[in-house]
Amino acid sequence: MEVIIKPDIDAASNEAARIFAAQLKRKPTSVLGLATGATPLGLYHILTTMYARSEIDFSLVTTFNLDEYVSLSASHPQSYASYMRENLFAKINVALENIHIPDGTARDIPAICTAYEETIDRAGGIDLQLLGLGSDCHIGFNEPGSSLTSRTRIKSLNEQTVKDNERYFEGAGPIPRHVITMGIGTIMEARHCLIIASGQHKARAVAAMVEGPVTADAPASMLQMHQHCTLIIDEPAAAQLKRLDYYRWVYENKPAWQKV
Ligand code: GLP
Repeated sequence: MEVIIKPDIDAASNEAARIFAAQLKRKPTSVLGLATGATPLGLYHILTTMYARSEIDFSLVTTFNLDEYVSLSASHPQSYASYMRENLFAKINVALENIHIPDGTARDIPAICTAYEETIDRAGGIDLQLLGLGSDCHIGFNEPGSSLTSRTRIKSLNEQTVKDNERYFEGAGPIPRHVITMGIGTIMEARHCLIIASGQHKARAVAAMVEGPVTADAPASMLQMHQHCTLIIDEPAAAQLKRLDYYRWVYENKPAWQKV
């Protein structure tokens, strides 16, 4: 895993935007895996600004979101479909028919989960998968204890995640306890994973992900086994890493041919 340490979330978002822009330039028909939460907001803002300046184009892009709350319709203000519309999709030229988000209101959830996997396959697989990190070390909504080879499926949230995400639901009813999420096996098949984490409250999860044992107890640790994973963190999120100086040295001395 390549570890990039930036002073703050703004610098981390800029670095992530650079990687996205390079991906779109290299392959205008890219299949992007997208994430929600507070962490990617800066990145999405930069991407919409770059689009407005005609620096990047999404017209041939296909997207797959990581997860969605069960029971929330796409128009519910707290659904991840609404989040994506507000923060990215309404501001860029991605074709509506190329946007995929699990349907939280589906009657037959196992069937739409299988179909989601098939649609990813038919699109040729995910080129660049954006990820955030739960404070309990989850990716997508793969909570601790999730199978490390899991596929898209329904999951139940644990207490920590409910607590972390409750703030977004103030006055909008109780937070759903069930979600649909890509599995860890699904995420592992993306050709490039890009994970961003920011803030001191993520430092423990970051250390477990990067330097802890690979274990279902810390689902993000599976990314140690990924062939091409880039982690971008800010200084507070890096606070508990043991090999900090080494990661900095590697990044600063990266051979030119390896730079994105
Ligand atoms: C949620 C999402 C994850 C996200 C995580 C971190 O649980 N399902 O995909 O990465 O929260 O969120 P935040 O960026 O708000 O800390």
